[in-house]
Amino acid sequence: MKNIYKAILILLIASVLGSCSMMGMMNRSEPTSEKRQRKEVDINQFSILPIDDTFYTRPQIEGDKITYNIVAQKTKQEVSSGIKLNLYSYNGTVPGQEIRVKVGQQVEVNLKNELDQPVTIHWHGYPVPVDMDGVPGVTQNAVKPGESFQYSFTATVPGTYWYHSHYKSAEQVDLGLYGALIVEGDRQTELDRDYTFILDEMNSKGKAGPKGMMGSSNDDLFTVNGKSGDLISAYEIQTGENVRLRFINAGYITHYMNLGSIEYRVVAVDGQAVMDPQIIQNKLLPVGPGERYDVEFTAPDSSFFIREMINTPAADGLIIPLINRTSKKTLDETEYDGIFTLIGSGIATEYASLASNKYDQEYKMVLSHGMKGMGMIYTINGRTYPDIDPLDVKRGDIIKVTLESKDMMFDHPMHLHGHFFQVLSKDGSPVEDGAIFKDTLVVKPGEKYELAFIANNPGEWMFHCHDLNHASSGMMTSVLYDGYAIPSHIDQSQPSE
Ligand code: C2O
Ligand code: CU
Repeated sequence: MKNIYKAILILLIASVLGSCSMMGMMNRSEPTSEKRQRKEVDINQFSILPIDDTFYTRPQIEGDKITYNIVAQKTKQEVSSGIKLNLYSYNGTVPGQEIRVKVGQQVEVNLKNELDQPVTIHWHGYPVPVDMDGVPGVTQNAVKPGESFQYSFTATVPGTYWYHSHYKSAEQVDLGLYGALIVEGDRQTELDRDYTFILDEMNSKGKAGPKGMMGSSNDDLFTVNGKSGDLISAYEIQTGENVRLRFINAGYITHYMNLGSIEYRVVAVDGQAVMDPQIIQNKLLPVGPGERYDVEFTAPDSSFFIREMINTPAADGLIIPLINRTSKKTLDETEYDGIFTLIGSGIATEYASLASNKYDQEYKMVLSHGMKGMGMIYTINGRTYPDIDPLDVKRGDIIKVTLESKDMMFDHPMHLHGHFFQVLSKDGSPVEDGAIFKDTLVVKPGEKYELAFIANNPGEWMFHCHDLNHASSGMMTSVLYDGYAIPSHIDQSQPSE
């Protein structure tokens, strides 16, 4: 074939594929004013599961030490009525064992790998020492089939975190190797109910990532705690109770949760407590990939539903019932007048602002995508991992990072390991209400953010997109401390994402 025809053919294919992913993206765009017909649901079709069904293994506690034994294993799980998927799990269910500890406890997790491929555990958002961070080829060797690894760290900060495999994570996390890490703080005793909702997308045909051009837009099952539709269990509330819901997004798209018309407060973002949380009503709560939002509310004198509001049929499968058995009423409001936005909402987390500091180092990361052969690549400053320079830092430095999206198609939820960063500005306007510290930030097409963090945890720390398909196709770099070298027993040829 003459080169010119070849070029035309490639262009044609690229534009067809390109418009597919455009369609995928539009399906998943923010909820629009053009309302979907609300799916009618009957609260009686849901049943309340005993809590022991979800927290099936008790930890061993000895003095300050709390130990969980976790086995990575295959499992078959009915995710939606009649749809059983072959998944991977930590302790037999998706999500895996909830790891729930208290601030001050010494946490020990014994991971045993009974899968036929290597795994690890990464503690997403948690500032663990670097050798506990779970990144194969960087912080440890992947745990091979039949092998074990002991993770241990001190629970230093309270909040909602999660854990997942970091070995071929685009595939393994998609298949279910994730769970919640809840660190209870002082306020725990004020909660009458405390429910964890891990959101995800699955595919009824059982396909797991990498998803190529279409991203995860083919996924047709939206799940909470590994279930969709009427397999979702109901959660009990009683009038007047103080209820906390911890939303964790283990998937690759932002979920827009409608909490009916109840008045709620966002009390923590990415584990960081919000100071003086204000009442929010009739606003959707967007939960981006890798992010966590803790909300609290006073239980109303009625049952109600929490609904996903993305404009796609899969959203009808993500409806969470909260049942108040002493009431005959069920609220099912789906009207809303906007989307909660973190920036500009007056929200501030607990740490002191870094905004007036001089920065020891400044870095810029331009996020984009492109084609390589027939596949997509996702780039930082035009390059793909590992061909990207790390961000060099010294212990004690205050670092500024500009994240700029030149990508007009895809969201990039950027996540930094081992540190919390402050969001200094968005699109040139400083964040003025107070310091917001997070570990994962959704950068939408064309957006530009400035971040700052204190280099206070020596090691080498991954900084990557949490659409794990993007990470595995290049969008990953690291923060590298001066004088730190990967220990020689670690085989650096292992895949790190
Ligand atoms: Cu939750 Cu490196 O990721
Ligand atoms: Cu991305």
